[in-house]
Amino acid sequence: MPIPENIIDQIQARTDIVEVISRYIPLKKAGRNYKAPCPFHNEKTPSFVVSPDKQIYHCFGCGAGGNVFSFLMRHENIEFPEAVEMLADKAGVVLKRVSPEKKAQASFANQLYAINDSAAQFFQANLANNSAARDYLSSRGIGDETAKKFKIGYAPDSWDLLINFFKKRNIGDDLLEKAGLVISNERGGHYDRFRKRVIFPIIDLKDRILGFGGRVLDSSLPKYMNSPETYIYSKGRNLYGLNFSKEYIKKKKYALIVEGYLDFIIPFQAQTDNMVATLGTALTIDQVKLLKRFTNTVIMVYDPDEAGEAASIRNLDLFISEDVNVYIAELPAGYDPDGYIRKFGTDDFSKLIKASKNLFDYKLDKVASRFNIRTAHGKAAIAGEMLPTIARINNAVLKSNLVKRLAERLSVDEESIRTELKKVKGDYDQRHYLSSYEQAWKSSATAEKMVLAILLEGGDFVTKVKNALLLEEFKNSSIRDLAKSIFDLNSQDKEITPARIINHLGNNDEANILISEAVNLSDILTDKERVLADCIARIKKDNIKDQLERLQTAIRAAHESKDEASLKRLVSEYNGLVKSGKQ
Ligand code: UTP
Ligand code: MN
Repeated sequence: MPIPENIIDQIQARTDIVEVISRYIPLKKAGRNYKAPCPFHNEKTPSFVVSPDKQIYHCFGCGAGGNVFSFLMRHENIEFPEAVEMLADKAGVVLKRVSPEKKAQASFANQLYAINDSAAQFFQANLANNSAARDYLSSRGIGDETAKKFKIGYAPDSWDLLINFFKKRNIGDDLLEKAGLVISNERGGHYDRFRKRVIFPIIDLKDRILGFGGRVLDSSLPKYMNSPETYIYSKGRNLYGLNFSKEYIKKKKYALIVEGYLDFIIPFQAQTDNMVATLGTALTIDQVKLLKRFTNTVIMVYDPDEAGEAASIRNLDLFISEDVNVYIAELPAGYDPDGYIRKFGTDDFSKLIKASKNLFDYKLDKVASRFNIRTAHGKAAIAGEMLPTIARINNAVLKSNLVKRLAERLSVDEESIRTELKKVKGDYDQRHYLSSYEQAWKSSATAEKMVLAILLEGGDFVTKVKNALLLEEFKNSSIRDLAKSIFDLNSQDKEITPARIINHLGNNDEANILISEAVNLSDILTDKERVLADCIARIKKDNIKDQLERLQTAIRAAHESKDEASLKRLVSEYNGLVKSGKQ
């Protein structure tokens, strides 16, 4: 059951976006607005703007935007109703609690969680019945208790056993496809995605199953088959195992980052439990932020081949801009954490972890080994690779210390390193964004955005646009929906605020981005009356041009088919349109 709109409006009205966002990130006042480095992408120069007047936020760098609910949804990784609940108490608004059953029916996400839960039970039951799969697990050193804890299962060698399992429970193929459990074929049918594989469920911090990874029992390829991105699962936003390890990470005050399922499970079983696994993909800023909730120190456990690769080290700069201390532990060639612990045991593994190097030293060693440090050219190349890492460090004392160490290592003076450091490109900046916007505004697409910006001011502007343009005249369908929503609120005599319209449209990402972008745009428009007139004219002109083109085609066709009656009608329509365009 959705939360009634007037309740949402009430909570919105009694909440201050600046106060809520500053619980998460420090905001600095800048004119009428507040600014900060964007929490949703990586940057040094703040391009994240919060407007207390409009009660919205917008990032000029990555385009993120929305109202206070959208912020919580994204930052806390929660759904709209949860975001509303979070703010209701403080706003003094009492929400009617809905029964868990009703909630489950209402929420698509909950439906998918429930499906994954049943699927996991299905896979677990199949593991119990399959000795080959159980033998495989024990050959990999996974005991029964561990298998149970991690909800490990087995997907049978069949195209439709899972489909039939769900059919009996009245769950159709379409929903299973949305859960990522089945794949559709060309004939419109479906088949089980996971077949003849050991299954590892991926579980989130609230113990919900988001998706699965399945490994073959032999050496066939692909080795792993994974759930696709679904409504509830996004690979880059989760870390495997964090639900099991978060308390240990807090207690031990650091986290080990490994790659694979087994690289997590095997050490975990042997009490090396403060870990997470990235599941073979490049680290994302969302993952860094997720982990940062539990610790500020991480140790990457790499096998030396990949660790040598510049790309995988560059990625670690993400941690640095988030003020996380990064260390690298290197395994001997040919070993991953699973293989290493099985062969040498936990004590040796701990020693290896203790011997980890901090990222700066590690990277400097790697980079220095690739160039000739005695030549000027080599020094410049090494500096070029190290400077972006240094530039990301927020703490000035630490930064200066690293400048000094780099200068010493290269035998150059500190000043030249400092000069080069200044040239390292800063992040996207607001002014640049606005000027490119101003240049582009002569297109009708931009004109539509401008009209939206001015519509959000409410009042007389809405009446003006309503009188001048039909909804059909907006080419961008999202802007059309927004304009409709604004017109509706206006005719109900309701106040128009950007934050409210965001709620009106169900807090969807595309609309949020458009609105927050438009609000910031309207802040820099000085003569709104004139801009509005220009933009309306531009949109009309473009539409007329399109219509004329369509008529021309129709006229040509009528001419060819000698349809005199139509031809006459079309030509007069054409002339009428040309005249109206000239007005
Ligand atoms: P690895 O190739 O290092 O495999 O991939 P692994 O984890 O050591 O696997 P085992 O020990 O042979 O069972 C690391 C991770 O990358 C992902 C998986 O999450 C895997 O754990 N991966 C790998 C895939 O998603 N697909 C693949 O085909 C291979
Ligand atoms: Mn392995």
